[in-house]
Order: sequence, then C-alpha cells, then structure tokens
Amino acid sequence: KTFSKKILITGGAGFIGSHVVRLFVNKYPDYMIYNLDKLTYAGNLANLTDVEKAPNYKFVKGDIVDTGFISALFNENKFDGVIHLAAESHVDRSIENPMEFIFTNIVGTVNLLNAAKGIWKDNYDGKVFYHVSTDEVYGSLHDGGFFTETTSYDPQSPYSASKAGSDHFVRAYHNTYKIPVLVSNCSNNYGQNQFPEKLLPLMINNIINKKPLPVYGKGENVRDWLYVVDHARAIDVIFHKGKIGETYNIGGNNEWKNIDIVKLVCKVMDQKLGRASGESESLITYVKDRAGHDLRYAIDATKIKQELGWEPSLQFEEGLNITVDWYLNNQEWLENVTSGAYQNYYQLQYSSK
Ligand code: NAD
Ligand code: DAU
Repeated sequence: KTFSKKILITGGAGFIGSHVVRLFVNKYPDYMIYNLDKLTYAGNLANLTDVEKAPNYKFVKGDIVDTGFISALFNENKFDGVIHLAAESHVDRSIENPMEFIFTNIVGTVNLLNAAKGIWKDNYDGKVFYHVSTDEVYGSLHDGGFFTETTSYDPQSPYSASKAGSDHFVRAYHNTYKIPVLVSNCSNNYGQNQFPEKLLPLMINNIINKKPLPVYGKGENVRDWLYVVDHARAIDVIFHKGKIGETYNIGGNNEWKNIDIVKLVCKVMDQKLGRASGESESLITYVKDRAGHDLRYAIDATKIKQELGWEPSLQFEEGLNITVDWYLNNQEWLENVTSGAYQNYYQLQYSSK
C-alpha cells in the first residue's frame, strides 16, 4: 500500500503522545505513522496495544539527541510531517537534574529541525514541522489575566526554560531557513495513561493505596486543566488547518486551586471506592513547596477557537470521572509503572522483530 503522507510523531509512547498516535492511526488510515521514542521511564508501549498491529503504524526506538541516528532516520524515510512531543516533561525532575532537559528538549529539538531541513531542501510544499509546547514558557500569572499567543516568554523552571529554548529554535528555523513550522502551547493535561508523578494520577494512586497526599506549600497554586484527548484533537486541527509560522494556545478554561482539585479527587474516589466521606481527604499532607513554584497558569484559547473551530469536547467533571474510572480499572498498569515492570514490554513485543 502507498500512503499519502509519512508522519513522524516523537514521544508517542508517552502520555499525550500515545493519545495523538492513537487518534492519527485510527483517523488517517491513509497516513503512515512512525512513532519515535527513546522509552525513558515515561515512555510505555503498553499505552498503545490497541494500535500496535495497525498496518499504518510503526514504532522506532531511538533518542532524538543522537544526531547521526536522527539524520539517518529522516534520510531513510523522507517524512512529510513531524509532530514533536518527545521531551523530559516533569518540573520536579528538572529541578533535580536540569541537564537531561537541556539535552532532550533543546538539543533533541534542534537535531530534528536540522534533519527536516536536510531532507526537505527548500522544497516545503505540504511539509510541516509542528512543535508541541507548554504554557509554562510564559511564566507565572500573579494579577489575573490570561496567557495569549503574544505574552512575553518568562520561564521560571529549568523545564520551562528548556521548552522556551526549543520554541525559540523552532521559530528561528522558520525565520532563517523558512522551515514550515507550527507551535502550540497547552495548559495542564489530565487523563488516561498519565505517569503517576504528575498531580492527578499521583493523588489517585496514593488514595487507592491509602498513602499520604502531598500538597506543595499551601495548595493555592492554580492550574488550567484540559482532558488529554481534547489536546490530541487540538493537535490534529492545528496540524491540518494551522497557518504556517503561527502559534496557538490551547486550554480548558478550567482553573482549579491545587487544594480544591485534590479535595474533589478525594470526594470522587471515596464514592467510587465505597469509602466513608472524608476518608481520603484525611490523607492530605502539606509538604515543602516546590522551588520557584509558579503561582497561576491560565490560557486564553480564543485564537484556536475562532480561527480553527476547536472546542474542548468534555466538561471537567465528565473527564475526571472517565480518568478516575480508567485508573481504577487499570490498576495493573499503575502497579507496572510504579514497579518499573512495564519496561520489559519492548523486549517482549518488539526486540525479536
Ligand atoms: P511524557 O513525559 O509522558 O512523555 C514524553 C515521551 O518522550 C516519553 O514517551 C519518553 O520516552 C519520550 N522521550 C523522552 N526523551 C526522549 C528522547 N531523548 N528521545 C526520544 N524520546 C524521548 O510527556 P507528556 O506529558 O506526554 O508531554 C508530551 C509533550 O507535551 C512534551 O513536549 C511536553 O512538554 C508537552 N506538554 C505537556 C503538558 C502536560 O500537561 N503533560 C502540557 C503541555 C505541553
Ligand atoms: O502547564 C503545562 C505543564 O503542566 C506541562 O508543560 C508539564 O509537562 C506538566 O508536568 C504540567 O506541569 P505542572 O508542574 O503544572 O504539573 P504537576 O502535575 O507536576 O503539578 C501540578 C500542580 O500540583 C503544581 O502546582 C504542583 C502541584 N503538586 C504537584 C505534585 C506532583 C503538588 O502539590 N503535589 C505533588 O505531589
């Protein structure tokens, strides 16, 4: 079979990437989807068992920091489009070990840009390099207001500084070499398959196991939560309809103080687990604040709504309900990722092929 496009998705074994891979493989049987992932602690091929045998899907294990490997992969496959999600993504880890973030998020992104430039050779017809980024590049809101596409960059953590750096390189390659780029900056995602180091799955996992629920500082920091499938839908719309060179902010218009969202998760979990009301809330433990903790993120998503017609499909209560049910019904997934057992999946499924 010949395919109309060859699309490289990086980081497709991770949380958001796996939802993007699933959407593209199922919705576009005419596209060949390559999923390039290093399978770090955050990459889990068990997230993609439902699509791994699809005729338009191929998994490639590799590191975006490896210049020779990336250049050979592009030369061999001549991709028409790149949707770049591979990254080190957890703020607390970036505070402990910033260098990994600089290698993967900055050097890795520039390697991909150079490889795309190498195969496209100024013939950019129908080609797209799409960088999936974060609202954290804008820094922290203190006095109300929202992040728009023209808000100045003011990253505060090593993670957000590395994502800001990669955004700048993507735009610089558009400006200098005319690479056809798209960038989106999205707010906090939640949903199935999120690694339980991030706030919501960490709380869900700890509630299941009756472990303390660590709330940083006073729990007053605010995040704008979006269901991961709605982010994947936005990526699809931007990839196909976005104007080259433009940036799109994506958000749920759904702000929660950490302490309030944690209490809501406790309430939902008590009901679902048949526990006494208030039982899970009693596990809340205030702990030392995150260093340099951004106070509030909130996205103004008017541009993507008005220009590209995207809207979130789910109300938050519905998305949270689906998410909690998924974790309760997939406790083996949680046990495997917390014990590290999932990392054998690649050996079992792929290494002999
Ligand atoms: P994740 O940590 O769950 O997944 C990252 C994936 O990238 C993993 O599969 C990992 O194995 C892979 N990877 C890491 N380093 C690699 C390397 N050197 N080479 C190849 N693959 C590598 O992350 P996520 O939460 O799914 O985020 C995906 C992207 O979306 C990131 O770029 C992140 O900055 C961005 N983003 C995330 C959120 C969020 O709320 N999680 C919000 C906005 C934007
Ligand atoms: O805004 C988008 C960003 O959202 C993405 O770019 C990042 O990749 C993603 O990790 C996320 O960053 P946050 O730092 O906002 O997410 P995290 O889940 O780590 O924390 C959410 C909030 O909850 C934050 O204010 C810190 C707080 N927190 C987090 C953890 C893990 C706690 O109070 N306790 C915790 O144990």
